[in-house]
Amino acid sequence: MEKKRSSFSGKLGFVLAAAGSAVGLGNLWRFPYLAAKYGGGIFLLVYLILAVTFGFTLMIGEVALGRKTGLSAIGAFKKLNSKYTFVGYFAALVPIIIMPYYCVIGGWVFKYFTAFLTGHSQSAAQDGYFEGFISQTGQPILWQSVFILGTAIVVFLGVEKGVEKVSKVLMPLLVILTVGIAIYSVTLPGASAGIIYYLKPDFTHFSITTVVGAMGQLFYSMSLAMGIMITYGSYMKKDVNLEKSVSQIEIFDTGIAFFAGMMIVPAVFVFSGGDASAINAGPGLMFVTLPKVFMSMPFGTIIGILFFILVLFAALTSSISLMETIVSITCDRLHWNRRLATIIVSLFALAVALPSSLGFGAWSGIQPMGMSFLDFFDFISNSVLMPIVAFFTCIFIGYVIKPKTISDEIKLNSPFKREKLFVVMIKYIAPVCLIIILVSSILNALGIFVI
Ligand code: PFF
Repeated sequence: MEKKRSSFSGKLGFVLAAAGSAVGLGNLWRFPYLAAKYGGGIFLLVYLILAVTFGFTLMIGEVALGRKTGLSAIGAFKKLNSKYTFVGYFAALVPIIIMPYYCVIGGWVFKYFTAFLTGHSQSAAQDGYFEGFISQTGQPILWQSVFILGTAIVVFLGVEKGVEKVSKVLMPLLVILTVGIAIYSVTLPGASAGIIYYLKPDFTHFSITTVVGAMGQLFYSMSLAMGIMITYGSYMKKDVNLEKSVSQIEIFDTGIAFFAGMMIVPAVFVFSGGDASAINAGPGLMFVTLPKVFMSMPFGTIIGILFFILVLFAALTSSISLMETIVSITCDRLHWNRRLATIIVSLFALAVALPSSLGFGAWSGIQPMGMSFLDFFDFISNSVLMPIVAFFTCIFIGYVIKPKTISDEIKLNSPFKREKLFVVMIKYIAPVCLIIILVSSILNALGIFVI
């Protein structure tokens, strides 16, 4: 155990591992389509405000909990107050729900990467290609299985060091490419309407659903309220500046999401000829629009190959962190060995991913709560479980162990600059907002109360 914990102990190691988990499909695939759906600039503004308040508070709270106890979620809550062990269990449930459907989308990315690589980029950019692909039965299942296998091999071998090494090279490349394609997108003729839509907040588009959507996205994107940051905090050395590391992860994660939106939203406006309804393409946005952008660029096929391999990499580092968390929980709780746990968790992922995949084709007639299976799992984890876990984490830190416990941990080696913000957020603002968000998102989904 000691040996494993030391592998993330360097400062760069922690930041990279946490950033590798945080930066993934959430930034590149989910953020742009949500920004488009929830009103562009207003969503961006709400998201940024939430990131520096809620996001910061929860992330630093979780990392400090992990570093203080040296344990992952269930153990950390149990050690500090055993009555709250249930929060750890709830947190552990989130990655179990997310991982299977994450692999479905990872499989789509894999498919697009190989389509570009094997000279099928033109057809991948055609209208109807994406819908045609996801509504099949065999193909998407094949690709998601390949994605799960790739994740499982890394977790099976337990090579956190390897992931870190690759991250050091590929993460900066991802930044360069995302910024580069974003610059290309905004210089396309006709992009200005999209840029305005994305950057200029239109307050008439504001509603509680904007906040709910932004909050769910924030948890998802920063890998919060699911025990991951607690676990990563437990790998952190006591002499690392915790506040600074958390700020770096936040800036990195939010920056990539911002540029991903910049890359996709203006391009949608260009390729739909200003048809605003095209921005509501939902989960297909990245797969439908970007191939068209690439095909309109010089060297588009090569850029497409590069882009999809990097998205694939970002998705893999995230799914590795998801599977790693589930595997380490099952090893701890059920006393399985690591390899057996990896095999069983992979088989579980394969089985549970099936409805999410078939929900776009053969099983599209079955709609839990009026949603596709993938959206349903996304809803349960992001809009229901994560706010519950986040709420109890706030109560736990704010009233059970008290914010001072966290502040003391942070102040072990450096001043805690945003301490006041942290205390006010964790005790008062965050719990109240989380309850409002939880209730309204459930009522909304049930169609009882749509604001
Ligand atoms: N934060 C990841 C992303 O933005 O894609 C998704 C994710 C990774 C969620 C790991 C949960 C997790 F445990």
